[in-house]
Amino acid sequence: MSETAAAPLIALQAIADEGFAEVDACVDGDSESLVLYRQGDQVRGWLNICPHAGRRLDWAPGQFLKSREGHLVCAAHGASFSLDDGNCVAGPCKGDRLRAVPLQLRDGQVWLG
Ligand code: FES
Repeated sequence: MSETAAAPLIALQAIADEGFAEVDACVDGDSESLVLYRQGDQVRGWLNICPHAGRRLDWAPGQFLKSREGHLVCAAHGASFSLDDGNCVAGPCKGDRLRAVPLQLRDGQVWLG
């Protein structure tokens, strides 16, 4: 996967701890929606595309569901994903996984790469 990163995606502080953000970024030459998840000083990111039926994971732009178990839940048909590794742990695409996007933190900003 190759990315172009001319500008940061978002400031870390703009994401609530243990919360989500949705950003657009150029990934492999295509404009993609990403879901970012912050945990303290760490951020993980995946394409905002559910492996079940290719729908967005959020029910409204930037509004993601989190289960009591701490999983990201796809708003379309309820597939649940681990926020550690993006693996689908329950639902119609169990065993599949979200497509991870490499991120870096620099100077309090989140960058692709
Ligand atoms: S598209 Fe996500 S569970 Fe069906």
